[in-house]
Amino acid sequence: MSLLQLRDVSVHYTKTGSFFKRKSAVIPVIAQLSLELRPGEIYGLVGESGCGKSTAAKAIIGLHQLSAGQIFFNGEDLSQLTRKARKQQMKEIQMIFQDPYSSLNPRKNVWNIIAEPLRNFEKLSKADELKKVQKLLQRVGLNEESVYQYPHQFSGGQRQRIGIARAMALQPQLLIADEPVSALDVSVQAQVLNFMKEIQEEFRLTMLFISHDLGVVRHLCDRIGIMYRGSVVEEGTVEDIFRRPQHLYTKRLLAAMPEMDPEKRQHKIKQRLQINEEFDRLADTFLDAELQQISDTHWARL
Ligand SMILES: Nc1ncnc2c1ncn2[C@@H]1O[C@H](COP(=O)(O)OP(=O)(O)O)[C@@H](O)[C@H]1O
Ligand SMILES: [Mg+2]
Repeated sequence: MSLLQLRDVSVHYTKTGSFFKRKSAVIPVIAQLSLELRPGEIYGLVGESGCGKSTAAKAIIGLHQLSAGQIFFNGEDLSQLTRKARKQQMKEIQMIFQDPYSSLNPRKNVWNIIAEPLRNFEKLSKADELKKVQKLLQRVGLNEESVYQYPHQFSGGQRQRIGIARAMALQPQLLIADEPVSALDVSVQAQVLNFMKEIQEEFRLTMLFISHDLGVVRHLCDRIGIMYRGSVVEEGTVEDIFRRPQHLYTKRLLAAMPEMDPEKRQHKIKQRLQINEEFDRLADTFLDAELQQISDTHWARL
């Protein structure tokens, strides 16, 4: 059974009209998005900025209403649950955000930041709470004394570790990481990614890892979904996507990755131009295409 399943999910934003233009506009952002996460896997959701990745994440944790479709978690339709049952399920889904500078409350010390989810669900004595927070800090490689410090006293990478500690406090089943390393220096990115992989293995977490960068998900994910204009246009294992990409949009993302080998650079530039030209011609037709199964693990809309 899958842990998380999105079935034909659609989400739109409503842009309210101005005084002169009363009519409000409906802007579709997610269109019939379907995907499935199996227990223990890391699924990479990849697409260019603006394609709806964060909106999808927010829909999963209940911050956006669905205009169509269903989301199942542990086999249960989240929209059908009572408030209480829903709260229990939401305990199992935690999220970390892109910007470690704005996602941690600057007026709270690390103790209060990490303890917040605990206080929502568990009644711990102050001493037990402190012990738990210190243990979590230790696990993410930070000093126990950090409990009394404030977010501005940490580097970006350290803040992201604090965010991870907070997300792990309730031992969730699913972690949604929305571009967790995109705001970090390249030198710190690899450290945080390795660390996330460690945590994922240790806690047998299922992870939805969102990124605009295929390079980032390559060494981390088991499977990858390529998202274009609010829908997945190709899905497969890392091998499928990197070795046998089928969709033009996937090929475009691959071609945009920097080429390290100087001998291949010229060829890659030429290839990129050719793909972009084709893309401009065909981009509007992508979402009309039929889903085609390429192998047991691989499909694309072609
Ligand atoms: N609150 C909002 N109101 C209206 N449009 C929004 C809002 N939030 C995001 N959008 C639009 O929805 C689209 C998808 O946004 P988002 O989910 O943040 O994409 P991504 O995370 O892939 O960059 C974008 O075109 C964005 O401008
Ligand atoms: Mg986003």
